[in-house]
Amino acid sequence: MDTLNQKHEKASSNWLARYQYKLWRRDLPIFLKEQSYRTGAELGVKAGQSFGRCLKANSELQLWGVDNWKVSDSGPYAQNRKHEERARRIAARFGQRAQLIKADILDAAKAFKDGTLDFVFYDLFNYRTSTVDFHRQAIQTWLPKMKQDGALIGRDFHENHLSDALDALGYGWDPLVIRGRESPRLGRAFRKE
Ligand SMILES: C[S@@+](CC[C@H](N)C(=O)[O-])C[C@H]1O[C@@H](n2cnc3c(N)ncnc32)[C@H](O)[C@@H]1O
Repeated sequence: MDTLNQKHEKASSNWLARYQYKLWRRDLPIFLKEQSYRTGAELGVKAGQSFGRCLKANSELQLWGVDNWKVSDSGPYAQNRKHEERARRIAARFGQRAQLIKADILDAAKAFKDGTLDFVFYDLFNYRTSTVDFHRQAIQTWLPKMKQDGALIGRDFHENHLSDALDALGYGWDPLVIRGRESPRLGRAFRKE
């Protein structure tokens, strides 16, 4: 199986791979619609691309987006000031349905009551905070916020640190099936029992 870096390389060198690599952006809003989810949180908003798409496709969805938009000298965080501005512009299109919280995801969880979210979309793979311990703590912090039967959806949950964190927590996993096929980068979803 290709590593994430190999997938990134393929995706930047070939238009078909690039297209497939981004399919999750289309598949996630479809999944939320199929499940008739009304309240959710996206952990890791960046410039608001998936945040905006989910809200656009789901007219009754109330979505909270959490990001600390920390700016670093290089790497994926270097553009975070611009990302935050774009995310705020996108959120403004959806009025009260879109709420952005600028905080670390571990702190932001305190603002949510237990058992209130239909889903948590976890999009923090491959960042500075990406260690098995961090993911395990983050998932343990956010799971109580979900309703019974709610879904924890992760982009790249099948990749190393995250996969190890989830296995360590001992969850049973369902593949996330959207209209009869599994979405490659939304490979695993956990439904709270
Ligand atoms: C993969 S990006 C999110 C991509 C986004 N969902 C999209 O549609 O393009 C991950 C984001 O998580 C944020 N982030 C990383 N660690 C964080 C933490 N501990 N608390 C809050 N945000 C964090 C980063 O600032 C970055 O914007």
